[in-house]
Amino acid sequence: MKPESLDLTDYNPSEDLAAAETMPARWYTDSQFLALEAEKIFYRTWQPVGRLDDVMRVGDFFSCEVLDQPLVIVRNHDGALRAFYNVCPHRAAIVAEGRGNRKSLQCKYHGWTYDLDGKLLRAPEFEGVKNWDKESVCLQPVLVEAWGPWVFVNLDATAAPMSAVYGAIHAEITSAGFNLDQMRLVERRDYLIDCNWKVYVDNYLEGYHLPIAHPGLFRELDYDQYRVDTFQHYSKQYAPIREVAPGDARDRRYVRSGEGEEDALYYWIFPNVMLNVYLDNTSINIIIPVGHDKTLTVFEWYFESPGTGAGWESMQQIIAFSDEIQQ
Ligand code: FES
Repeated sequence: MKPESLDLTDYNPSEDLAAAETMPARWYTDSQFLALEAEKIFYRTWQPVGRLDDVMRVGDFFSCEVLDQPLVIVRNHDGALRAFYNVCPHRAAIVAEGRGNRKSLQCKYHGWTYDLDGKLLRAPEFEGVKNWDKESVCLQPVLVEAWGPWVFVNLDATAAPMSAVYGAIHAEITSAGFNLDQMRLVERRDYLIDCNWKVYVDNYLEGYHLPIAHPGLFRELDYDQYRVDTFQHYSKQYAPIREVAPGDARDRRYVRSGEGEEDALYYWIFPNVMLNVYLDNTSINIIIPVGHDKTLTVFEWYFESPGTGAGWESMQQIIAFSDEIQQ
């Protein structure tokens, strides 16, 4: 069945909030929905596919995917980021694997070679082949942008730039005193979860479960002040960190200083990216459907000053704290 033939009329997303319902269960359990979501959502939104650190020098590249679509990101000779489908126009083999640094990309099958702008340089033994214009052969480009320490792509060539989608997020994080661009990756953990990807997102978007499901996190936050602001492409959960009562010496991970205090910021950017901004670290969660009932959640923790000694100890506590919430 084609995705277009799915009946979507059993849900009204414009319902008034007080009368709103969750989406029908079928949208979570019917495997056909994932094909529809890929086409309508994941192939049309900005998706984080890797780290800027991996493509800083001319010739740096890495391969990646957006769901089932293979891609390659490169830094070209002009110093610009480029992204292409990792599909050779000859017979569809890949032109790059893993990451590294190369002057050109060479297909693993018959050795056609492409420059860092995707243009065909060499096609061995193709002299004399007719009805073929070498000049017109190139890797299919994809929109790519750097944002913070990440590389994002969008498979929709007509998509609005990231600045139009991520709006004021970068400026807000900066004005809260965090230097997103200087954050360095400290750890990545992948969690494979037996659920539809939307179940994970639904859970992230409500703080209602905090008191019971996450008592450790609940202790840190001023739950009564918890607030959600919604914007066109993202929502922001504002969660002030609770002040310590006199004599309260519990194992609070974060403590309000009372001066120049910052609060935790949680952004969800439609459809599957979450940014969690704390006092001294930022984590990104990327929610990737690998089937209609299986979801890969990628957690990466970034610190501005990773440090050693006591700083290293503090970092490990933060990662363990996040891991506990995730588990
Ligand atoms: S498939 Fe790439 S050179 Fe043939």
